Parts: sequence; structure tokens; C-alpha cells
Amino acid sequence: MQKIAVCVSGGGTNLQAIIDKIADGTIKNTEIAVVISNKKDAFALERARSAGLPAVCASPKDYPDREGFADAMIGIFKEYDASLIVFAGYLVVVPGKIIKEYKNRIINIHPSLIPAHCGMGYYGLKVHESVLAAGNKVTGATVHFVDEEADHGPIILQKAVEVCEGDTPEILQRRVMEQAEWKILPEAINLICEGRVYIENGIAHIK
Ligand code: GRF
Repeated sequence: MQKIAVCVSGGGTNLQAIIDKIADGTIKNTEIAVVISNKKDAFALERARSAGLPAVCASPKDYPDREGFADAMIGIFKEYDASLIVFAGYLVVVPGKIIKEYKNRIINIHPSLIPAHCGMGYYGLKVHESVLAAGNKVTGATVHFVDEEADHGPIILQKAVEVCEGDTPEILQRRVMEQAEWKILPEAINLICEGRVYIENGIAHIK
């Protein structure tokens, strides 16, 4: 049984998709050991509690420096024996110490087709505003391994979503969540937990 830690900051719809896909057997051989948020009032923590999951708050603001925050997070991951870390709408700049400790064992969901509309400052609605401002006719979501750069590590899965006439950032965000994020994040977790994802020359492959 693979234990995962899910890190959240907001509404937790991606967390909910993982919870639901574990419950219906789509994600096999996996359990959510802990849900961690940097925001104590994140609704995602409410979702975790409703699902009977350990819900923990750990914010960089609670620690004297980034090293202290990194040590605290690594301590939680180890306490819950997490072997895979999932960033599901996690709006924290992650200290390099965590990324080194969990190299190629941290994944993130980003609401665009990386390398488009990503990097520092591209999160939440800002991503979809950028897609609309560019006049893109297609967007989507990406699940990737986390490395030292924002939204940059080896891509595991992507799924395209149509941009429709009259879309607002909010309408487009919802469509990308429903048609892409909530599907490929659970799928990526299942693939990793089945041992079917490997990285060769910086490229992630699925066997
Ligand atoms: C999602 O759009 C996700 O792609 C992005 O932040 C948002 C989080 O939504 N990283 P939720 O908290 O999972 O509902």
C-alpha cells in the first residue's frame, strides 16, 4: 500500500477527486496518509476531515526561516510514512531541501499545457486569464514532477481542453478542472503507485 501526502491551499476539488477515485477503486494500492495545508481555513482541510483523514496545518509563517519550515514538512511526511507527495493546488514556494529529499517523488497539477502559461505568478485564475488574453483555442492541464523551478519538472500526463467563445476565466477554470485536472491527477497517482512511471534523460515515460 503506497501512502501519499496531499498538500493543499484552497478549495480542495483536486483532493476530493483523489479521495473519490481511491474510494471507487480507480486508484489502487494507495491511501492518503495525511493532508497538509499552509492555510488553516482552507476548505480542503474540511474535505479531509469529512473523509476521516488526518488534516494538518503547517505554514512557512509559523517558522523562523525556510529551513525550519522544510524540516517541519519533511518531519510530517516521515511521520505519516508518505512515499509520494502530491501538490493539489498548493500555493507555497517549496524549499529546495524538500525537493532534494523527495526527488522525483513530488508531483503537481498545473491548470495549463506546460510550458505554456506557467511559472512564477501563474496560478489559479491568472493562468486562465493568460490563456484567454493569448487567444488560445486549446488549453488543458498538466501533471508533472516537481523540481527546483516552478512548473518545470518532467511531465507525466497532460489533457487538452477546448477554449470556447465567450469563456470567462471562471468558466474556463471550471471546464479545465472537470475535463482535465480531476481526471489526470488521479490517473497519474495510480500510474506512479503501480510503478509504471520512470524518468529517462529528464523525460517521464509510462510503461
Ligand atoms: C486548481 O486549478 C489547480 O490546477 C491549481 O489550483 C487550483 C486548486 O483547486 N493548482 P482545488 O484547491 O484543487 O480546488
